[in-house]
Amino acid sequence: MMMKCDVILALDVPTRDDARAVLDRMGPDLRWVKIGLQLFTRHGPELVEEVADRGYSVFLDLKLHDIPNTVAKAVASLGSLPVRLLTVHASGGSEMLRRAEEARQTHAPELKLLAVTVLTSLDRAGLKEVGIEAAPPDQVRRLARLAAACGVGGLVCSPLETADLRDELGAGVTLVTPGIRLPGDSADEQKRITTPAEAARAGADFIVMGRPLLRAEKPAEVLAAVREQLAS
Ligand code: C5P
Repeated sequence: MMMKCDVILALDVPTRDDARAVLDRMGPDLRWVKIGLQLFTRHGPELVEEVADRGYSVFLDLKLHDIPNTVAKAVASLGSLPVRLLTVHASGGSEMLRRAEEARQTHAPELKLLAVTVLTSLDRAGLKEVGIEAAPPDQVRRLARLAAACGVGGLVCSPLETADLRDELGAGVTLVTPGIRLPGDSADEQKRITTPAEAARAGADFIVMGRPLLRAEKPAEVLAAVREQLAS
């Protein structure tokens, strides 16, 4: 099936056994899996390899943010792992982003970096607290431009931002959108949500889905229905 937008499962569970159990229930339509800090801090590279050995493309959501040299070395280290997408914080600044991208080109050419702009948990007051007077959408745009100018290949963006960022940055940038809910789902703590079809229409290349799949009684069926929607 040719897909302009595909689904990434957020494997937000505490242990390797839980992760295995989730993947066993997902069926043949799942292509992409996001491993975040919760699982990576516990099971590390071995789990990444196990998930990739099962045939999935891995998105490692580590949101790296450190001095340029350290981030570049972490990216280089990941060159030995089967990781296809990796997050870095755009707020680490241009030198950090450029060095990360250089390390990627040299050591991990199969990998694409995704910049995280403003965490969705930060509102205007939260930004102000850390000395940033801008409104969140302006800060998102500023950081998105910075990441693109530094050669970073993609961005994680909320459903509200996807269409604007696609307009501004063009077709070349990979946009990954979390905050996806099916009609009738609970929003949980997500403040900005959208359906898979709306996210695809806004220009997302990938949607990230955690709880709507993790909580489903028949996740493989939900996933197949979502992919069908995305393909049409
Ligand atoms: O369960 P849910 O579908 O809300 O999961 C969304 C996933 O996307 C989680 O892994 C969450 O950490 C991640 N994410 C997010 N909002 C962001 C960035 C990442 O929800 N701004």
